[in-house]
Amino acid sequence: MNLVFFGPPGSGKGTQAKLLKNKFNIPHISLGDMLRDEVRAESEIGKRAGEIMNAGKLVPDELTIELTRERLKKPDCQQGFILDGFPRSLLQAEALEQILNDLQMKLDKVVYFQVDEDEVVGRLSGRRSCKKCGAVYHIKFNQPRVAGRCDNDGEMLCQRPDDAEAAIRTRFEVYARQTLPVLEGYRQANLLATVAAQGEIDDVFARVLAAINDGGHQA
Ligand code: AP5
Repeated sequence: MNLVFFGPPGSGKGTQAKLLKNKFNIPHISLGDMLRDEVRAESEIGKRAGEIMNAGKLVPDELTIELTRERLKKPDCQQGFILDGFPRSLLQAEALEQILNDLQMKLDKVVYFQVDEDEVVGRLSGRRSCKKCGAVYHIKFNQPRVAGRCDNDGEMLCQRPDDAEAAIRTRFEVYARQTLPVLEGYRQANLLATVAAQGEIDDVFARVLAAINDGGHQA
């Protein structure tokens, strides 16, 4: 199954994608994670992207388009994939269509995580993640077994620089202005499956599974 996970910052795309990846054994392709890897590696892409990401803005389209093209070419995507955080602009949506055409693939569903902005601001300010393995926690809603330490490898958990208040505000503005307009095309193409992303993580996951199986309802 070839899926795009779409929704505002903090709507739970990454959390749900990790659950689905484990259930279906298909790769979770997170553009945010890939870009953070580039920043850590101090690559050319990372050097261009780091400050932009910390400020909560979108990195240049050509970088994310190339990263996505190269990742989707890898053999593990043949059985399906979960694309999380791409496309985020109309230009990226067009590029994705072209990439999939070139690779003779097509999207099965775009899962849209619908959630109140007030709720997600609280989620983002309480998010903590492991730099080593990428596991994501929340200080209230999704706690590690030992406070401040990753369950998988015991590493110290940290806060993402773009989860600071000013950057969160910018991310929501950018989402509303540049990303949300992308939804309309998917609605018209009858690909949209809307999931209410409020409530317990397991309950949201049950809704994701239902949406994937029956197409969910069009928003
Ligand atoms: P990215 O890392 O993709 O950030 P984002 O889209 O803002 O999404 P988040 O990771 O913040 O949230 P999420 O929806 O995955 O929520 P999560 O599951 O973590 O991108 C970062 C940056 O990279 C961008 O700002 C941009 O600069 C750049 N970038 C990436 N892609 C790009 C592109 N295509 N073009 C240009 N630039 C790009 O959950 C959040 C928290 O809530 C966690 O603590 C979690 O434990 C908790 N939580 C999850 N579900 C629930 C629940 N049901 N109830 C309570 N808490 C919950």
